[in-house]
Amino acid sequence: MASSLPAGSPVAVIGAGAMGAGIAQVAALAGHRVQLHDARFGAGEAAKRGIAEALSKQVAKGRLANAAAAAAVDRIESVVTLPDACIAALVVEAIVEELDAKRELFTRLENVVGPECILATNTSSLSITALAAGLKYPGRLVGMHFFNPAPLMPLVEVVSGLATSETVAATVFATATAWGKTPVHAASTPGFILIGLDVNFAVTKSIWQAYFNDPRYAPSVRQQELVAAGFLSRKSGRGFYDYTSGATPPEPRCEMMSTVPAKVTAHGDLGIVAPLADRIAGAGIAVEHARADSRFPRGALHVAGDGGGAWIALTDGRTATARVAATGVRNLVLVDLALDFAATKRLAVARADTCDDDAYAAAVGALRTAGIAVCRLDDVAALAVMRTVATLANEAADAVVQGVASPAAIDLAMQQGVNYPRGPLAWADALGAALIGDVLVHLAAHYAEDRYRISPLLARRAATGGTFHG
Ligand code: NAI
Repeated sequence: MASSLPAGSPVAVIGAGAMGAGIAQVAALAGHRVQLHDARFGAGEAAKRGIAEALSKQVAKGRLANAAAAAAVDRIESVVTLPDACIAALVVEAIVEELDAKRELFTRLENVVGPECILATNTSSLSITALAAGLKYPGRLVGMHFFNPAPLMPLVEVVSGLATSETVAATVFATATAWGKTPVHAASTPGFILIGLDVNFAVTKSIWQAYFNDPRYAPSVRQQELVAAGFLSRKSGRGFYDYTSGATPPEPRCEMMSTVPAKVTAHGDLGIVAPLADRIAGAGIAVEHARADSRFPRGALHVAGDGGGAWIALTDGRTATARVAATGVRNLVLVDLALDFAATKRLAVARADTCDDDAYAAAVGALRTAGIAVCRLDDVAALAVMRTVATLANEAADAVVQGVASPAAIDLAMQQGVNYPRGPLAWADALGAALIGDVLVHLAAHYAEDRYRISPLLARRAATGGTFHG
């Protein structure tokens, strides 16, 4: 196993923007001398001041000793030219996300650093293989992908291109561990991040182009419009939402009209939704259990009421109205996926176009009595959470097939890098690949779009009932 860089060895960080400053802070706190370089005049010094401020806040909160903060700041030096960074044992590049700019920088770096120096890039989407092409020693180039904000986010993806030396990847992995991070190994593939809409749009376009304009990755026209308007999210004060000071944060609209039903019948094995029946019973509504109804093979709740009452079922990717057409059940309300049906305080629902008012009010009443706020969405296929989870699980399954990373590494990356409460493949295991597969097949049929094309591995797991995690 390779060891990490020795604590005192010099590290150069090129690009002193949001990411470069954060990475410099992490490396300096870990005991490295850090040379920070930015092409923009004054950016390195400004980043150093920002780091000093961030560390003094940590000191004020009692999370860092004053002496440790001062020593870390002292270890950071803003350097004006690239040759000033020649003593580095590791260079972490965090400049603009452009292939040509990064390639040019690495070519220049090779002329100033020693032959043993590791060249790492923080790119979110560019191919490590392409970045290394043309270098004298392409084996020394590796992705060291921090997440934003780098001092806080534990995940670091160590990304190997075709030429990356295993020792270099292992050294960077061990170094990230020594810096208090949680690294995962990944193969070079177009990636994903959370960020301003402009950067996200650029990354999305770059991923789409890298896959030869595969319609599955086609960027969103809506996002293009927002970027064109300068609505870049928090950093410009407006994106999908208004972030200006004094703006009222949007509140989900909840259904207020409801009637408390006399009885609810749980038909069949409700699977992940089963806690809803317990919560409804716990709230004092009589709940009976009955065998499965053939129209709802994955189980459903029947809520008693006038005109035959209403049925509540988990979305399977079809609209409620499409399921009415398939089952003949007119009064149908679909619920969206929740992380934990035993604890969720809110559920999104879709009401079939044919569902009458009294039946809908009884379905809402059963959920509200159980302490769940009900937000009605339009009758869209797969609603919001199920659609998101299914497409993420599909993408993750494809990443496994393509050898990008193991299921465990992918789930860890998504939890620690982008704060998902559960990894996408753990989701697939919890819901069953068959349900995820059905959701994708229904979405693909509904939109006639390749975006929902099912991954061959997910299709195999769906066919056999297999799981991704042992
Ligand atoms: P940024 O725009 O805040 O900072 C980039 C800095 O690089 C600027 O200060 C710019 O003056 C400097 N720069 C540009 N060209 C240069 C060159 N040739 N030589 C030296 N300095 C140069 O960008 P940010 O957000 O820090 O992103 C940097 C990199 O990190 C990009 O590759 C991005 O994709 C990646 N990344 C960004 C994340 C984010 O959430 N912002 C997350 C993970 C990775």
